Amino acid sequence: MNLIDEANQTLRIQNHRYRYHLSPNSGWSNDPNGLVFYQGKYHVFLQNDPFNSSSNRIFWAHFISTDLIKWKQIDFALAPDSFYDIDGCYSGSAIVEENKLFLVYAGHKNKQNSYVESICVAESSDGIHFEKWNNNPIITRDPNINTKRFRDPKIFKKDNYFFILVGGESNEGCGQLLLYQSKSIYGEWHYVGKTLNKAKGLGNMIECPDYFSLNGENILLGSPKGIETNEKHGFDSCYYLCDPKFAGERLPQGKTLDYGWDFYAPQTMYDPIKKRRLLFGWLGLPIEQEKESVANYQNIGALTIPRELVLKNDKILVFPVSEYEKLRDGAGSRIQEKIDYSSSSEFVFSNIPSNFEFHISSKRGSYGILVKEHSLIVKIHDQIRAHQVTIDNVYGIESLSLYIDNGLTELFINNGEYVCTNKCEFESNNVKVDFENDDKVVGFNYKINSIF
Ligand code: FRU
Repeated sequence: MNLIDEANQTLRIQNHRYRYHLSPNSGWSNDPNGLVFYQGKYHVFLQNDPFNSSSNRIFWAHFISTDLIKWKQIDFALAPDSFYDIDGCYSGSAIVEENKLFLVYAGHKNKQNSYVESICVAESSDGIHFEKWNNNPIITRDPNINTKRFRDPKIFKKDNYFFILVGGESNEGCGQLLLYQSKSIYGEWHYVGKTLNKAKGLGNMIECPDYFSLNGENILLGSPKGIETNEKHGFDSCYYLCDPKFAGERLPQGKTLDYGWDFYAPQTMYDPIKKRRLLFGWLGLPIEQEKESVANYQNIGALTIPRELVLKNDKILVFPVSEYEKLRDGAGSRIQEKIDYSSSSEFVFSNIPSNFEFHISSKRGSYGILVKEHSLIVKIHDQIRAHQVTIDNVYGIESLSLYIDNGLTELFINNGEYVCTNKCEFESNNVKVDFENDDKVVGFNYKINSIF
């Protein structure tokens, strides 16, 4: 049996841990990959090692949906079975060309005390079975301009040329993005230039770049790692208002996409059906998620719910796709103190006073929101985590929407002005809610149906 068939065997028993978040059927998972609309379906791929509870040999798991509401995990798309990707089919992106679906990813191969990463392609005509190109890799690293960290290609087409942005590290140890160009996917790829985070404290690599336009503005997305801070183990996900065809230019100041601890390596796609930009992120963080590997879960890691992006005054607003309202089970109930709620729920608050508190707890964990003097504080406490996130200079909180799904939480403030994504394991069918019951506050709770 080949490796992909072996991985497909793990799908025989449906075993999803979360109710309305994409998560692998088994094993470890991290970044979303290859988001694309192809032959009438939304395709989402996921970094997944179905055989291990830590990242060992990464495959591309594959999910499809026709409406962003009901999803199905189908056969694995890529397995680490070739000499150039034998230790992992790392992150990448997708493009549709002449009715074929191309996946462009990073082949990862370990060497003693080091590794080699290169850019590879696979193609499909049915959106299910993928064939790796027999001349892979299509781009190899130039050691004069980049260290061994050379991965996460983002492919896009502009003015009849194909471009690939690769996440990397300069030889001086700064995060950078390298741009390559070609007339065709299997043609010759030429190096165009790079842009970098010049200050060292800004990290030693930018992972998982993305590039798109919103309202005609060029947006670059990237996940810097190795930032000199105690926050989020030095990882972050930022957007930069710029065009990557800038050879040599310095990256502008990045803006945070999500304030929570458990959000990393987001990717976007254009939705041709509703003409909007969608985003999925990894609902997890390196180092942080590894703490779960010892907990004997059958599967670890999930993606955020699909989110829509809108640009307003040079700021990206991020909110759940409207389809998620259809997942609400019934009309919802008014939130009251000390009543049990389902742990797959959405809590929606409006008319929020300038001081407001809300807590959810079960025997295993507690999650709190505190609005006070233009700050919003989120407190997370469970058996393996204790975090406090403070968002300052928040003026006028009008609405809060909090999704919880068995230990995953996503908080949207003012319809996406701020987002705060965190894991907090309640591990209970019922959670207890406790909030300062101000007469003005209107709070509703909706049970959320399964996406599988
Ligand atoms: C980001 C990342 C990527 C890499 C992948 C490996 O989380 O480290 O840079 O391609 O995960 O799974």
